[in-house]
Amino acid sequence: MVKEKILVIGAGGQLGSELTQGLWKLHGKDNVIATDIKGPEGILGQADFEILDVLQDQKLDALIRKSKVTQIYHLAAVLSATGEKNPKLAWNLNMDGLVHVLDAAVEHKVNKVYWPSSIAAFGPTTPKIKTPQDTIMDPSTVYGISKLAGERWCDWYFRNKGVDVRSLRYPGLIGYKSKPGGGTTDYAVDIFFKALLEKKFECFLKSDTYLPMMYMDDAVKATLQLMEAPCEKIKVRSSYNVTGMSFCPSEIAAEIKKYIPAFEITYKPDFRQSIADSWPKSINDSVARIDWGWEPAFGLEEMTAEILANLPALL
Ligand SMILES: NC(=O)c1ccc[n+]([C@@H]2O[C@H](COP(=O)([O-])OP(=O)(O)OC[C@H]3O[C@@H](n4cnc5c(N)ncnc54)[C@H](O)[C@@H]3O)[C@@H](O)[C@H]2O)c1
Repeated sequence: MVKEKILVIGAGGQLGSELTQGLWKLHGKDNVIATDIKGPEGILGQADFEILDVLQDQKLDALIRKSKVTQIYHLAAVLSATGEKNPKLAWNLNMDGLVHVLDAAVEHKVNKVYWPSSIAAFGPTTPKIKTPQDTIMDPSTVYGISKLAGERWCDWYFRNKGVDVRSLRYPGLIGYKSKPGGGTTDYAVDIFFKALLEKKFECFLKSDTYLPMMYMDDAVKATLQLMEAPCEKIKVRSSYNVTGMSFCPSEIAAEIKKYIPAFEITYKPDFRQSIADSWPKSINDSVARIDWGWEPAFGLEEMTAEILANLPALL
């Protein structure tokens, strides 16, 4: 078996901090270099960690060369809500960062690259229920525009430069071990913290706003499964639809109330409501299931039980 050397960019974020631990288990701590523009915080400080700004392409090149990197997981991005407040920052980081990584993969003959897209790549005229793999894509946020453009870049580098780049269109990711980074689905993480600490939560989306979501364990599982799949099974080189569940704020609140009967939710929609309204309500991920065997383990009930059993010990 080839000994891999894995570079994780943006490892300190909500996804990166948990995915890095998944990579430690798969490849061994010594073979994973976690990097971020800040940190290291918490558990990431226990292993190889370096400060890296993905926009500094010469430093990226030097690290790949020095460490003989064979795989890159590029997770650094400005997310949807933050991106609408700072569109140029979002465009610069999300586009230049990706192109730097793809160019470096060509230059250094990196075996595999992972880059996440998002349901934000869809838009207001995309079919909203069970959104198919191939459909109308008219994103209305800068974040979504950058994700759709990123998908096309990935496909282009695969076809024209032979880069084995793989991608998932994540729905909202929900975990309790790390805080979310400025997305429109962040409420579904914050609600657990507020339910336990204050028994009340003010939601920035309307009660009936359905969105596709995925528990963090499933997101890590899907990512590693995609990256470990044989090359010939990966037929989509833009990005694969994946999902775990779909719910609205009143449904997750009702689930939490089963464990914390005094919990109350109120609603005060803000600018994030229109972002959520432009996205799919549920996702059809049958192509990922057929191509490389994707299957989620967590629905709303299983996820709520797991988070409420484990989060109190961390508060
Ligand atoms: N969290 C979700 O619900 C979700 C959903 C869909 C897609 N995604 C995608 O998954 C990826 C990770 O998302 P996340 O939720 O972990 O985001 P996050 O904001 O929590 O983490 C991003 C990390 O990137 C780092 N970073 C910022 N600028 C950098 C730079 N110039 N160089 C290096 N690192 C830099 C940040 O410090 C941060 O630790 C992103 O591409 C995001 O678009 C996330």
